Amino acid sequence: MTFNELKPHITNITSNATLSVDDRLLKICELLEEHIPYYNWVGFYFKNGDKHELKLGPYVGEPTDHTIIPFGNGICGQVAVSNQNFVVPDVKAQDNYIACSITVKAEIVIPIFVNGKNIGQIDIDSNTANPFTETDERFLEFVCKEVAKVLA
Ligand code: SME
Repeated sequence: MTFNELKPHITNITSNATLSVDDRLLKICELLEEHIPYYNWVGFYFKNGDKHELKLGPYVGEPTDHTIIPFGNGICGQVAVSNQNFVVPDVKAQDNYIACSITVKAEIVIPIFVNGKNIGQIDIDSNTANPFTETDERFLEFVCKEVAKVLA
């Protein structure tokens, strides 16, 4: 399925008020992992209350030990402070990287803003080298905006 074909499915999920917020987030993870071959681990991290750390939310893929990530640590922790997209074509080239699985070759993290505040992020790991383009960034920004509406 193309990104444009996936967009209405994303909106259907986010606007489904019969599901809990976490169930909606999980369904988004499942949709993306299922339909985009190079999205192999898809999950959400959110700011943990007023602590300077991220807490793992719904995800699909291998379980990770990194359920709490301090701000500044790894790709995710860096996005929590930079408020910028972070595209990593080759995780081996990163000094500040937290490995979750030896199969992962690349990662993309896009922040989620609610009322202008960075409250979390979508994190995607790929077992394919250098798979992400600006098209992924634009699509995932759309996903994050839809998710933000649910969290606002
Ligand atoms: N690789 C991430 C940690 C989270 S896992 O990918 C699930 C990082 O460096 O922040």
